[in-house]
Amino acid sequence: MSVPPGRFVTLEGIEGVGKSTQVARLSAWLTARGIAHRVTREPGGTPLAEQIRGVVLHAREEPMPMCAELLLMFAARAVHLQNLIEPALARGEWVLCDRFTDATYAYQGGGRGVPTEHIATLEELVQGARRPDLTLLLDLPVAVGLERAGRRNAAAGDADRFERERADFFERVRAAYRARAAAEPRRFAVVDATLDVDAVTARLVAAIEERAWTC
Ligand code: TMP
Repeated sequence: MSVPPGRFVTLEGIEGVGKSTQVARLSAWLTARGIAHRVTREPGGTPLAEQIRGVVLHAREEPMPMCAELLLMFAARAVHLQNLIEPALARGEWVLCDRFTDATYAYQGGGRGVPTEHIATLEELVQGARRPDLTLLLDLPVAVGLERAGRRNAAAGDADRFERERADFFERVRAAYRARAAAEPRRFAVVDATLDVDAVTARLVAAIEERAWTC
């Protein structure tokens, strides 16, 4: 009997949309259905890719050129794909990934102004034909997201290089995410993250069930 294919599901959104909470809830939902899966994140997901995450997110005095940031995101992604994502999918496991290349289009493209063609070239180089089967975009007004993220950072006592950006940066990030979702409506499901946590989970689950992968 052939193994049903693993599905590659990514979660996206600006800071403060509640991705981590929802990733944990979706993981519990998959576990309850007996679906083997890996939960992971970008940048990061493997020991080496997590080291790259530390380099790219850590705020320091020396400026980081835009293209260095872009290349580090894809360097981490190349490691993550080869060492975790592709092997898991090949075993028939699902991969639930907190951010992936749509974040690069949104943050480095929309936020920083990197031309889309540069990102597309690296996407092709690093991923070949690999794309998420489903991307769940948690959408929230920037002011609400930043307020939530600000509370979390105050509790944790730090903010990374992106969390230090201003509202207009995140407005561009959000707009880029929404434009990508509008351009690829079959791959994306956009969920209103102002809803309460249970309602958001229910909509994310509905988006997965709609694909009839779990029958
Ligand atoms: P996280 O805190 O949600 O894990 O994400 C880390 C930060 O990295 C977040 O601010 C978004 C940013 N990021 C990019 O700028 N480009 C990317 O390709 C990825 C995956 C994340």
